Amino acid sequence: MIVGLLENRKTTPSPKADARLRLRVTRRQECAQGIAAFDLAAADGGELPAFTAGSHIDVYLPGGMTRQYSLRNNPAERHRYCIGVLREAAGRGGSAYMHDRLKAGDTVETGRPRNAFELEDQAPFSVLLAGGIGITPILSMAHRLSALGRDFAFHYGARSMLRLAFRDEIQASAFADKVRFHLDDGPAEQKLDLAALLSNRRPGAHLYACGPAGFLDAVIAAARNAWPSEAVHREYFANAGRPNQAIKDRPFRVTLASDGRSFEVVPGRSIVEVLGENGIEIQVSCEQGICGTCVTRVISGVPDHRDLVLTEKQHAAGDRMTPCCSRALTDELVLDL
Ligand code: FES
Repeated sequence: MIVGLLENRKTTPSPKADARLRLRVTRRQECAQGIAAFDLAAADGGELPAFTAGSHIDVYLPGGMTRQYSLRNNPAERHRYCIGVLREAAGRGGSAYMHDRLKAGDTVETGRPRNAFELEDQAPFSVLLAGGIGITPILSMAHRLSALGRDFAFHYGARSMLRLAFRDEIQASAFADKVRFHLDDGPAEQKLDLAALLSNRRPGAHLYACGPAGFLDAVIAAARNAWPSEAVHREYFANAGRPNQAIKDRPFRVTLASDGRSFEVVPGRSIVEVLGENGIEIQVSCEQGICGTCVTRVISGVPDHRDLVLTEKQHAAGDRMTPCCSRALTDELVLDL
């Protein structure tokens, strides 16, 4: 988650300071054009909170910036968190700070690992697809599946060999024989043929994809016929405005199940903003519907889902929502708050 990088904005209080970790940068390496890798460890060298494949951490940077980075290392490791950071030319400064200022020996504050891109590690077969910096959570999944002795296929696409991060690490791994590299500027025969790859599904197989929106859209389209939605897992870098955002926002009322207080959410305001102004804080991170931090249970009413983190099935069930960006299709939403 999230990726190598999710640029985001914080307008509401971040997690309590005591939930934060103070980590030391133990290693920094330029691992591809525009991509820097960082290893983070506890300042006292002790064990870090455990994580599962697909997890990410929030990194708190000066100026109130929070950025999210997927952990790419083996989840069995307790001594470090490994992240990869793509320098975003059009970013708002988070990736530039990481690239230009953060060096080995520095201290940085992070959140604890969270997972919005979980691996079904008991599946008999998995297909792992990574585009660009989307390699980071996929790598962690490959480590986990490999450690369990599960069968999987791993395809990693990049614009060019220069942009292919962690190649040495992958080629030295126990799963090197399962990985195929695909370069946009390479010969036609090595290009990733998603239609052919995803035209069939082995019984019980799960599919994971992380990368730019265009890549994920192509994966989802190619998988649509043979793969049920519950077997397709994807993680976006940013929410460019999808599901219902072409529909004009309408006002609605949000009610707290705990004490019955109700608040009007007008077009242009989010539930998180309105509740925050009234002293009800919901923990947020990305505020774009991609990290899952704010997911809240819905007691009644029908959410207008605008996120990219809940599955189609969860959207259809309507019993939870992301109040950072999602709205209501009914006049009132009662939330479990
Ligand atoms: S804060 Fe990330 S999904 Fe709502």
